[in-house]
Formats: sequence, structure tokens, C-alpha cells
Amino acid sequence: MAAADKALETGSADELAALLSDAVSKGVKSRFAEARAGRGADIDDVKARRYAIHAYVTSVHYAEAIYNAATASGEHEGHQAEKAGGHDQRDSRSISVRSTDDLKHEHRVIEVVLTALDRMADQLDEGKALSRERAEKALETLRVFADKCHHGKEEQQLPKVLESRGMSREMGPLAVMLHEHGEGRTHVRAMVEAAPAAAGGDPKARAQFAQHAHAYVVLLRGHIQKEDQVLFPMAEQTLTAEDGTALVARFEEIERSEIGEGVHERYHQWAHELAARFD
Ligand SMILES: [Fe+2]
Repeated sequence: MAAADKALETGSADELAALLSDAVSKGVKSRFAEARAGRGADIDDVKARRYAIHAYVTSVHYAEAIYNAATASGEHEGHQAEKAGGHDQRDSRSISVRSTDDLKHEHRVIEVVLTALDRMADQLDEGKALSRERAEKALETLRVFADKCHHGKEEQQLPKVLESRGMSREMGPLAVMLHEHGEGRTHVRAMVEAAPAAAGGDPKARAQFAQHAHAYVVLLRGHIQKEDQVLFPMAEQTLTAEDGTALVARFEEIERSEIGEGVHERYHQWAHELAARFD
């Protein structure tokens, strides 16, 4: 680099330092401006959401890489850090965060359906009628979007990779997650069974629907909180860059094969429609 040679020749590094800090300042500002713009991405626009996550990861990664390069004490230390896996660890965190970000976003959609379901159960408790159409839409969203697709990702893919990195499926957060998914399915089955008669006014079916709806909402809200606050941060720390990349690809494959292209988005829309009716 010509400026570096000039600094050596003249004995003054001022010009080189100014050149570098100007380049860093421009680079950091433009990447963070892109990341901030992405924060307003429409929650239902999958492409915009992926772009926003990419912009966020890129900006943080860029700042981190520059900081690490600028604070390394010399070539020898840099090589040592890379050999020790320092660079790989930074990469893996960013990429594994991307895979758990997908799951966290789906949690936000599921929470919208839970709010709607809770209101349906409240209305049953208040003696009001249950709309069969609304109940069936909520239950289909929970069975297909939440269970088949989202829990499919969590049960088929995430544990496999985490087990290969030493996490146990028999105890701890993975065991809790798998057990609670089973409990959730029991409540959903009971609601599906009760829905037609409950919508028709049958008192026993109304009580069964309301009881399982309330229990499911409590179970799943707590379950989501545990995943967001315990399991996913552990996964983000444990997974390598290769694990993260493979997971993101397998998640996309599950969306295509389990529920089909574009169907995922339909359930997002239903979730918001269901909640909007209770505003
Ligand atoms: Fe989940």
C-alpha cells in the first residue's frame, strides 16, 4: 500500500492513520445505516426480513473484524488467535444467530395466534358463541405452521446438530423442549376434537375447548420464553459456522417440503387476521 510505504519513508504515519480512519468511518456508517433501515422491515415480508438480518449480521461482523484487526498486537498474535479458532468462533456466532433468528421470528407469529386463541377461550367463559371458522383457522395455523413446520425444525434439525456438539437430548433444555411439544399436541388434539360441537353450542365441548385453549396458551408462552432465553442462546454459543449454514438450508427445505412454497406466508396473514378481529 503506497501510503504505508510513504509513512515509512517520511517517518510520519499521520497521513496513513487519517486514510485508514476515514475508510473505517465510511464503512461502519454505511453498513449501520443499512442495518438500521432494515429494522423497520415488514414482519410478514420474508425477503425483507432475510435482507434485514443479513444487513444486521454484516454490520456487526464488519465492526468486530475491524476492531479485532486494529487491537491485535502483531502478526504473530493474529495467527495464534486464528489457529485457536477465534475467527471461526466469531463467524459461527453470526451464522448460528441467523438460524435461531428464523425460529424466534416464528415465535412472534405463534404468539399472535395464542392471543387470538386466548380471547376465544375467554369468550366461551363469558358464555359467548365460538366461531367455527375462526377456531378452525387458529387450529390449522397451530397444527401446520407451529407444529409441523416450526416444531419440525426444532425437533428434526436443531437437536441433531446440538447432540453432535455434546448437548444431551435426554435432559436439560432439549429434553424440556421435546416434552413440552408433546404436551402441546395433546391440547391441540383435544381442541380439534371439541371445536365442531363447541361451535354448535354443546356445553361439554365448549368447556373442553376453553380448558385446553387456556392450558395450551400458558404452556406455549412459557415454552417460547424458555427457548428464546435459554435454548437458543446456548445454541448460538455452541454451533459452528458450518452448523449454522446447514441449519438455515435445512429450515428452508422443511418450509418447502412440509408446507409448500408461499404457504408459510398465508399462515402469517391468518395469524394477524385472527388477532385483528379481537382488537
Ligand atoms: Fe419454538
